[in-house]
Amino acid sequence: MITLALSKGRIFDETLPMLAKAGITVSEDPESSRKLILPTSSPNLRVIIVRASDVPTYVQYGAADIGVAGYDVLAEHGMDGLYAPIDLGIAKCRLSVAVRDGFDYVSAVRQGARLRVVTKYVEQAREHFANKGVHVDLIKLYGSMELGPLVGLADAIVDLVSTGNTLKANQLKEVEVISQISSRLVVNQAAYKRRREQLQPLLDAFSKV
Ligand code: ATP
Ligand code: PRP
Ligand code: MG
Repeated sequence: MITLALSKGRIFDETLPMLAKAGITVSEDPESSRKLILPTSSPNLRVIIVRASDVPTYVQYGAADIGVAGYDVLAEHGMDGLYAPIDLGIAKCRLSVAVRDGFDYVSAVRQGARLRVVTKYVEQAREHFANKGVHVDLIKLYGSMELGPLVGLADAIVDLVSTGNTLKANQLKEVEVISQISSRLVVNQAAYKRRREQLQPLLDAFSKV
């Protein structure tokens, strides 16, 4: 049995058509079912539903053989025990710095101001500002980062941007792109070596689509 770890929402929704092209359908919809282990039309494959940021953990420890995770999540988690052989080109977005519409970020940075930044992506934010030589106090949040600058918690946010609608709706502007993000197939390193024959057809199917 091969176990594939997916998160509900866009990752599940965008992975489904790729499985379909390999002739595999998933028995239930995680949005309506409370089940966390979903059988598929293939007797050798099951899907487990986990939080997006937990996908690398399940795969690293071998509780799932493979998974689909955003590069944002992988960069934060680290690649210990994982292979990420295929960029699936789904769930595309970017990791960016954003501030309030009226905030002069460029001047603040030029003047060497110390900035308060809220983010879920502490490691990537730390690296970005260290490379730029900008002094920051990072505050970890788990969601709704866009609120931070509006209520005086922070000067800036580091968060994912796609259409820019969320920034716009909250009077924020994007001032720097840190990285382009898409989702990758991640494989447990030990499984990749020991169960290569079982995994290869699935890996081939993913790399084709
Ligand atoms: P959780 O619900 O556990 O906090 P999450 O909010 O990160 O997780 P999703 O919103 O489903 O879960 O995001 C999963 C992945 O999809 C992210 O890691 C990122 O790579 C990508 N992603 C996030 N937001 C967007 C977006 N607005 N447009 C495109 N891709 C996105
Ligand atoms: C993500 C991200 C941003 C938003 C950006 O949130 O955290 O808030 O998308 O997308 P946009 O530029 O197209 O507006 P998501 O939709 O995943 O909601 P969440 O807060 O439940 O994670
Ligand atoms: Mg999200």
